[in-house]
Amino acid sequence: MKKLFIALLTLLPMAAFAAGNAVHLDEANYDLRDKASLQNGAKIFMNYCSTCHSTQYQRYSRVADDLGIDRDVMSENLVFTGVKVGSLMLTAMPAESGAKWFGATPPDLTLEARLRGADWVYTYLRSFYIDETRPFGVNNLVFPSVGMPHVLEELQGTARLLEIKHNEEELDLPEGARIVKETAVVDANGVATGEILTSYLSPDGNGELSAEEFDEAMLDLVNFLVYSAEPNQLERQEMGFWVIGFLLILLVFTWFLNREYWRDIH
Ligand code: HEC
Repeated sequence: MKKLFIALLTLLPMAAFAAGNAVHLDEANYDLRDKASLQNGAKIFMNYCSTCHSTQYQRYSRVADDLGIDRDVMSENLVFTGVKVGSLMLTAMPAESGAKWFGATPPDLTLEARLRGADWVYTYLRSFYIDETRPFGVNNLVFPSVGMPHVLEELQGTARLLEIKHNEEELDLPEGARIVKETAVVDANGVATGEILTSYLSPDGNGELSAEEFDEAMLDLVNFLVYSAEPNQLERQEMGFWVIGFLLILLVFTWFLNREYWRDIH
């Protein structure tokens, strides 16, 4: 029984890996100390996400203070529900309507970056592509059959999911394209032909932002969501620094004290 349990435990991560489709997650190199990035992330969140999603464990005022945004500026420009700046960041959309309109209630995003991981959220936001079979005409690579529409179309434009078969060296992708999967091509006998099948997302370039600018904007948004999931993170790291410093100084004194105690005995 115990052996079975251990075997199951070792296999679990593999199963989880196999279950998630093999789409590569891009690394989100966010920087929590970058206030400008956090501010831009908050701005994008309030403008493009807060109509459907809340970050209900956060207050506007706390976000304003942490991110160095003036409370009045926050109140006038980023609070769209008409509530006081000290209020929790709820969405104006009733949960039942969300379920009715999108097939799923848009979840609260306060802890999303911890739940899914920053890389997942970063890749998700950049992985909407045209799929006419879906109610809103889009699908998502890391969240197949997602209920959320492509709300950032204005910024990014729309992307197509395309495939190309090629040899190792020669791969010519259109500008702004992002490789999402590469598989070795095998023939009917399962022998590798040396060719590679590359799937990529190709944006139509109709958005306000270029591919790089859009990635940058999404990084800011992820930065904000990572901050949201743990607003104390920066303080905690700083505190850790002081605590270790204190312990090191204490170590020096303890060492001297120890020497003092043993002096007459040796
Ligand atoms: C028009 C409404 C709407 C807007 C605007 C919207 N979303 Fe969503 N979002 C949804 C719905 C509905 C779901 C649930 C999808 C499902 O479960 O199929 C969702 C799901 C998500 C998820 C996945 C949650 C999970 O299951 O882990 C993330 C992350 C997310 N949204 C982020 C955002 C961000 C960031 C923005 C702003 C750029 C945004 N959303 C704007 C409706 C919206």
